[in-house]
Amino acid sequence: MPEVRPAILEANFEDVKKRVEEVKPYVKKIHLDVMDGEFVPNNTFTDPAQIAELGIEVVPHLMVKHPSLHLKKWDIPNVNEIIVHKEAIGNIDEVIKMAESIGKKLGIAVNPKTSSYDIKDDLDKFSMILVMGVEPGFSGQAFNGDVIEKIKYLRELKPDMNIAVDGGVDMAHKKQIVNAGANILAANSAIFKTDNIAQAIENLAK
Ligand code: DX5
Ligand code: ZN
Repeated sequence: MPEVRPAILEANFEDVKKRVEEVKPYVKKIHLDVMDGEFVPNNTFTDPAQIAELGIEVVPHLMVKHPSLHLKKWDIPNVNEIIVHKEAIGNIDEVIKMAESIGKKLGIAVNPKTSSYDIKDDLDKFSMILVMGVEPGFSGQAFNGDVIEKIKYLRELKPDMNIAVDGGVDMAHKKQIVNAGANILAANSAIFKTDNIAQAIENLAK
């Protein structure tokens, strides 16, 4: 059974908090979409001081241009792992060193157009990989079926690694995503745009 993480993409803390309260009884971790308006054409709420008050583990998905400049501020107790984008990091070792200096694990996200060949030799440096099913920036986009092959390839390469999929994850695609090898599903619309949030999470996790 995959672990389901609600993806929260909101512009202010009140809305982040509201979303978190809606899902808190049903999940272990929140996938928090952090956008800077530069790496992606959208902005979200990004104040770690307030995120620290949420009372649940949060995994920030940093869709920002210079992630190494942002890592330090995520040194908060309810964050253990931070996800940065392959397309945004310059020097991999520098960003890894930065994460180590604050004692956090580092995950790597890859956009649909980024080949797994570009990342395969560095996978051991990261705690998890986040395969994007859409171009990052907005929720509610359709899943790009081409990434199924990427998930399969990565799973063959790394039988024990956490492989998460984010963007367009819904009931129509869940099965093939999990069968391909993903063990973590991040979803926004398929959870929050439903009448029954608890049921939606349970269905995705089945
Ligand atoms: C996309 C974000 C995703 C997004 C998921 O840039 O990283 O986490 O919020 O939203 P859905 O599940 O609606 O595609
Ligand atoms: Zn995300």
